[in-house]
Amino acid sequence: MQIMSCISYILLLCLISSTNAQHPTREALELTIGIGNGSKVSKSSKACNLPLKLNCQLPGTHLANQVLKFADQRLALIYPVIQKFKSLITSDPLGITQTWVGSDICSYKGFYCDNPPDNKSAIAVASIDFNGFQLSAPSLDGFLDQLPDIALFHANSNNFSGSLSPNIAKLRYLYELDISNNRFSGPFPDAVLNMPGLTFLDIRFNFFTGSVPSQIFTQNLDALFLNNNDLMIRLPENIGYTHIFYLTLANNKFNGPLPRTIFRAFSSLAEVLLLNDQLTGCIPYEIGLLKEAVVFDAGNNQLTGHLPLSIACMENLEQLNFAGNLLYGAVPEVVCELGKLVNLSLSDNYFIHVGPLCRILMERGALDVRNNCIPDLPFQRSVEDCANFFAYPRFCPRMWSYNYIPCPHFPYASLIPQVAPSP
Ligand SMILES: *[C@@H]1O[C@H](CO)[C@@H](O)[C@H](O)[C@H]1NC(C)=O
Ligand SMILES: *[C@@H]1O[C@H](CO)[C@@H](O)[C@H](O)[C@H]1NC(C)=O
Ligand SMILES: *[C@@H]1O[C@H](CO)[C@@H](O)[C@H](O)[C@H]1NC(C)=O
Ligand SMILES: *[C@@H]1O[C@H](CO)[C@@H](O)[C@H](O)[C@H]1NC(C)=O
Repeated sequence: MQIMSCISYILLLCLISSTNAQHPTREALELTIGIGNGSKVSKSSKACNLPLKLNCQLPGTHLANQVLKFADQRLALIYPVIQKFKSLITSDPLGITQTWVGSDICSYKGFYCDNPPDNKSAIAVASIDFNGFQLSAPSLDGFLDQLPDIALFHANSNNFSGSLSPNIAKLRYLYELDISNNRFSGPFPDAVLNMPGLTFLDIRFNFFTGSVPSQIFTQNLDALFLNNNDLMIRLPENIGYTHIFYLTLANNKFNGPLPRTIFRAFSSLAEVLLLNDQLTGCIPYEIGLLKEAVVFDAGNNQLTGHLPLSIACMENLEQLNFAGNLLYGAVPEVVCELGKLVNLSLSDNYFIHVGPLCRILMERGALDVRNNCIPDLPFQRSVEDCANFFAYPRFCPRMWSYNYIPCPHFPYASLIPQVAPSP
């Protein structure tokens, strides 16, 4: 009786060790006693008390009661989570999931282990990098949110869909989340507002809809990529400060103008991508506070008024795009003087004047003013088109501020002539 229960116990504990990725069907099974899960098991372990460690070779069998031997309890815990996710994957053209077998989770393709912050002697899956794996799955629910030790999750350019579970807020170590270029839909994942450790959020090129809570701009995020979704973004009026260095909001929907305060808050931004949104109103002089900006792209919106001279303070600018707006007046010479500028795109507006410094840029191919209302240049709008635009009086608030250059050491600050001859 004792022997019988002992034998069945050995079978019960037939442990599948890690398999070779090259031969996923050949499974080496290892019999071990004394390592297992559950109180039932440890009771029978006492009953037979054998110092037994056998190797058995079972070709591809799947034992109903198989027990795998894991390097750490934390890996054992997420093994079923991964296997369940694997079963939901509908397409895996690169054969990635063939490596997701056995107990050596740390060697699965795309999975990386490390010691979790709360226990330096434990081993856990700390990061996942599925970038470019071309996996298809209807959802990440029950997977991502069930990986308690995950710190980085990168899954760009796959074919994952569904919405993001609110349960991701439980992932206390997650600081980088990149699910860009997939087929995610549903509302903006508000759960991220409850994740103070999150510093990098990239959900661009998906199908998220609805509004983005404005608190997102005051999170601890360094990078926020929201472009190319179907989100409604309202930039908050009173944003005190923000960590964000990289912000892309392009190809979403905005309602309303660019709030003046946003620029002060975002003065450390390196890239501002606002193109193809529905920005309206005049450009506040505070744009000049974006001293670190290398790229500022607000092409294809409905911004109007003059270009503020304060842009001259954006000394790091290499690319400035306002093409396809409703801007008018003169192209400020001080902007054309920006030393690092390689591409100033102002085509498809209603500018009426370009001075000599800007013409030097034009000759170099760095300034594009096609399709404006500049009388002596080729490729301009028709006279009728321009006359129609200027038939209505146009005003911006705080007109004085358009000549204001908020950088104290600007060498020509006091010599700025009154720009914008009236049409
Ligand atoms: C151990 O078994 C119990 C009950 O069978 C289960 O709830 C638990 O998740 C298991 N733990 C591991 C690490 O497999
Ligand atoms: C830390 O992890 C090791 C390995 O999993 C485990 O044996 C130990 O009990 C853990 N320590 C604490 C304090 O949880
Ligand atoms: C991506 O998934 C969708 C279903 O969500 C499917 O129709 C489509 O064929 C998949 N594309 C690829 C390239 O696997
Ligand atoms: C300048 O920027 C515009 C707008 O982003 C782009 O369409 C154009 O190709 C760029 N020109 C050069 C020469 O890079």
